[in-house]
Amino acid sequence: MSIRWPFLKRKKKSITEIPDNIPNHVAIIMDGNGRWAKQRGLPRIAGHKEGMDVVRDIVIAATEAGVKVLTLYAFSTENWRRPKSEVDFLMKLPKEFMHIYLPEMIEKNVKIETIGELTQLPDHTLKAIVHAKEKTKSNDGLILNFALNYGSRHEIVEAVKAISTQVNQGNLEIENIDEDIFSSYLYTKNMCEPDLLIRTSGEIRLSNFLLWQLAYTELWFTDVLWPDFNEELFKKALVDYHTRKRRYGGI
Ligand code: IPE
Ligand code: IPE
Ligand code: MG
Repeated sequence: MSIRWPFLKRKKKSITEIPDNIPNHVAIIMDGNGRWAKQRGLPRIAGHKEGMDVVRDIVIAATEAGVKVLTLYAFSTENWRRPKSEVDFLMKLPKEFMHIYLPEMIEKNVKIETIGELTQLPDHTLKAIVHAKEKTKSNDGLILNFALNYGSRHEIVEAVKAISTQVNQGNLEIENIDEDIFSSYLYTKNMCEPDLLIRTSGEIRLSNFLLWQLAYTELWFTDVLWPDFNEELFKKALVDYHTRKRRYGGI
């Protein structure tokens, strides 16, 4: 059976005509920048720079495909373990990305959001993010959700603490805590869970990414390194997703 590219000519159609087999929420672990650079005899940061431009291409591809939320793992709570020079460079990328691409994001009706512990970011990084969120807050197109200083275990522990506080203060009964309430204490509280997770670079692991939210997500891995990832591969992942049968424990 050949699968058509249903999203290629969908740009101007209304939302009701979008087939329900396009994932609403795609999450990506953008991995392999360092190896990409190493293969070329370049410093690791050259891979991060190249990867930033790929982010732009995939945002546009996701917009055109009709994806509603695109969550990109940009910096994990464990990435602070890297050499300071690399961390410093990574922390400059949000500003650089917004400087180059924010006008295009605004034009494409993209709304920029984040998940993660923003308070620990350097001021200049935080400022760029806050500015981008402010400039795009009224947009109602694709939600471009950057996971920045994000760690799933941290997120879950913080949720437990916040829920415990509510219980202690008498605002919440233990018996009433359920999965929906728990989810409402996560960074992703206002988002649907990811339908599709993509990880580049050949690593087959989650690296502390969305552990709760990925419970029933379809996983898609490629050996391609993030700076070599492109629109065609993104479409391939969407088409593969289209062929998956999600059962959620049923039959
Ligand atoms: C992903 O690429 C980017 C971040 C984690 C910020 P890496 O920097 O992890 O690249 P590899 O995995 O070392 O090749
Ligand atoms: C995951 O990649 C984090 C991001 C892509 C931001 P890592 O490169 O940090 O993951 P590990 O260390 O290989 O598991
Ligand atoms: Mg890596």
